[in-house]
Amino acid sequence: QLPDTLNSDQLRASRDNLTIAEQYTLEALQFNGSLPGPTIRMKRGEQFQVQFHNDIGQESIIHWHGMIVPPDMDGHPKDVISEGSYSYDFKINQRAGTYWYHPHPHRITGPQVYRGLAGFFIVTDDEEEALNLPSGDYELPLVIQDRKIDDSGNIYYDPSMPERMMTGYLGEHILVNGVPNPYHEVQPRPYRLRLLNGSNARIYNIAFRDDNSFTVIGSDGGLLPQPVETTELLLAPGERADILVDFSNGFSNNSAELISKTFSVPSNGGMMGNMSQMMGQGSPEQGSEFPLMEFRIGNEINSSNFVDLPQQLSEVNFPIEDNAVRTRSIELNMEMMTGHTINGRLFEMLRVDEKITQGDTEIWEFINNSAVPHPMHIHAVQFKVLSRNGNRDLIPTETGWKDTVLVMPGERVRVIVTFDALKGLYVFHCHNLEHEDAGMMANLEIT
Ligand code: C2O
Ligand code: CU
Ligand code: CU
Repeated sequence: QLPDTLNSDQLRASRDNLTIAEQYTLEALQFNGSLPGPTIRMKRGEQFQVQFHNDIGQESIIHWHGMIVPPDMDGHPKDVISEGSYSYDFKINQRAGTYWYHPHPHRITGPQVYRGLAGFFIVTDDEEEALNLPSGDYELPLVIQDRKIDDSGNIYYDPSMPERMMTGYLGEHILVNGVPNPYHEVQPRPYRLRLLNGSNARIYNIAFRDDNSFTVIGSDGGLLPQPVETTELLLAPGERADILVDFSNGFSNNSAELISKTFSVPSNGGMMGNMSQMMGQGSPEQGSEFPLMEFRIGNEINSSNFVDLPQQLSEVNFPIEDNAVRTRSIELNMEMMTGHTINGRLFEMLRVDEKITQGDTEIWEFINNSAVPHPMHIHAVQFKVLSRNGNRDLIPTETGWKDTVLVMPGERVRVIVTFDALKGLYVFHCHNLEHEDAGMMANLEIT
């Protein structure tokens, strides 16, 4: 079951009790009665206009993750509405890519996304269309989310203190596009999968059971400069990966099982490190192997199963290190009573934490001194990852434009970013939504 396409200029968030499969129910929040929310498709240059109606009975506001929009269109938590509507109206002026939308109220983003408020925002442009990538039935936007389900089949959100403060909320059941035990019937030919990790806290190491390789063609901010072949790919909450998979090749028993392969979370020693290990709440810990979904491969012979990928996929124009006017250190710490902080502080709605001159290119250095991973996300920009721990130890998606980058315990990740967006207040934060809700967020002001 694929997400519907948005075919109105209204996005209404409402609450409902929903049976999402025979045995599972969810006290759901939904956009336009759809789980996930309807897929928005726009072409670069078009004007996007939508009226957001909030009928969920608590504060909310929509953020367009990865989109570069004016500050009052960005879903800053100060702009929440508790009823009525909010008008969005902005021009799509950025690269083709797999973006997404979700609520952004302070302290309650986690539960709202968890209960169903999230959808794809797909942007196309001429450069991408010229590649003739698989489309229509052969292009699948897939949002992967882990959930906790109790004995009577209710999906519930009830993080304990350690889950709020340390690990984030990890579930043991996977939903893809809102469906438990997901599978999809495919033809033996290449497909384009637009993967979104829409989980609150869980990181996936995307792979196939048989270790088949796939081709990464895009990341958060659209097409990579060159395609990259791989057998596994880390995808943290908030991140996207655009991949090509050829189901005519190398899969046995007409089945391709997408899994999350084991990966290790570097331990960052100390008492906090040990505590976070002890605080597991019954769900498999971060890094465990997980089945995600199955592709059942049909027999139909299709003539158009050849994708002729050029060596050069996209013109990327990354900022140049020599042009950076400064380096900012963004320290991620864990404190006993406070929880996770950014440069020693918790979020405050209107305090300006980083002041930036419009048009400046800067290097941001994320330094993770805590014992758990932090996928760091900056609004209003796309950036390029330069290095990790001093080495150029980058994963395939990090060869392209990014808006969210995974910073493992003990890591120091440098990114380069040009602040071209309109002047105003935006946020940056950890995309582990329990961390964000607990205050691991800060304001940046472009002046
Ligand atoms: Cu997807 Cu500020 O978030
Ligand atoms: Cu965002
Ligand atoms: Cu975090």
